[in-house]
Amino acid sequence: MPLIELLFATHNTHKLREVSAIIGTRFRLLTLGDVGFDEEIPEPHPTLHENALEKAQVLHRLFPHLNVIAEDTGLEVAALNGAPGVMTARYAGTGLAQDNMRLLLQNLQSSTNRAAQFRTVLALIENKGQTHYFEGIAQGTIRTEPSGAGGFGYDPIFEPKGYRQTFAEMPDTLKNSISHRYKALQQLSDFLQQYSPI
Ligand code: IMP
Repeated sequence: MPLIELLFATHNTHKLREVSAIIGTRFRLLTLGDVGFDEEIPEPHPTLHENALEKAQVLHRLFPHLNVIAEDTGLEVAALNGAPGVMTARYAGTGLAQDNMRLLLQNLQSSTNRAAQFRTVLALIENKGQTHYFEGIAQGTIRTEPSGAGGFGYDPIFEPKGYRQTFAEMPDTLKNSISHRYKALQQLSDFLQQYSPI
């Protein structure tokens, strides 16, 4: 049976690497480079669902014959009422992970409640036109200082529940077996099994 092809709407090479490692041989992942798309994809909306949908729609309009996936991820910190949430990538305004982490640690300085979660919303638009959403959550805590050199984004300050390492201290294979993105992709994978090939 031919592999299901999925066009992943991201320019983020870390995400691409993670998703590619997670979905492995079950699907054929097409990148934006594969289809010659090099424009920025906007994330203008107030919810992860809307942003994921928008990114998938941009690609679906251009490549309607392909199945398109797009994801949006937010770090939701309890003591900050869910912030930075949809603003996670742009929290400090510079687009730099170091600045984002520094601002978050500063805003949490006086807080003993360090509970947080990463939430990924994945949107699939099938080449038949239907849209489906999948969600994955990784709960954990925010450390008081960064630790570890792996991963990306806020990984050095996020310690997933049940572990004593940050995402950045773990081997990629471990992060990719417990992460928010992994959980959302598992659901997508389960969904696609019943429809294969779509
Ligand atoms: P977006 O989904 O591209 O909007 O990404 C949101 C931001 O969340 C990224 O720029 C990263 O800073 C952060 N982020 C997303 N996924 C992860 C992750 O797995 N670990 C750490 N930070 C992440």
